[in-house]
Amino acid sequence: PAGDAVRGAQLYKARCGSCHSLDANRVGPAHRGVVGRKAGSMAGYSYSPAMRASRVVWSPQAIDRYLQNPQQMVPGTKMGFRLADPGQRADVIAYLQQQGRT
Ligand code: HEM
Repeated sequence: PAGDAVRGAQLYKARCGSCHSLDANRVGPAHRGVVGRKAGSMAGYSYSPAMRASRVVWSPQAIDRYLQNPQQMVPGTKMGFRLADPGQRADVIAYLQQQGRT
């Protein structure tokens, strides 16, 4: 089922916002344009070697898998956060999908 981007915006703020923002690298990399982007490619962000070496492209499906269990998808990643609820993942991904490059 398609996620709800409005709910996703709130979830993003509450659950991702401690480490991420759309336009600035913080604890984690900036997210604007992340859907469709190659993993480990945000300029100026210091990724783990595992993320830099990964060949993942962040499709909605790939982000869904990563949020379920980051270590399983990208062993050695330094993101230590999971979003267990499938509906919440769909909402956050719908929100990210709307935050394009400009
Ligand atoms: C990386 C999503 C929450 C810390 C990433 C990446 C995605 C992502 C897609 C890879 C980006 C890229 O390759 O450019 C999310 C979402 C979150 C969330 C959607 C909330 C639902 C968090 C939280 C933290 C965190 C709460 C800190 C406690 C990191 C770090 C990385 C990262 C450190 C870099 C990983 C590495 O280099 O191995 N996140 N994240 N994230 N995230 Fe998150």
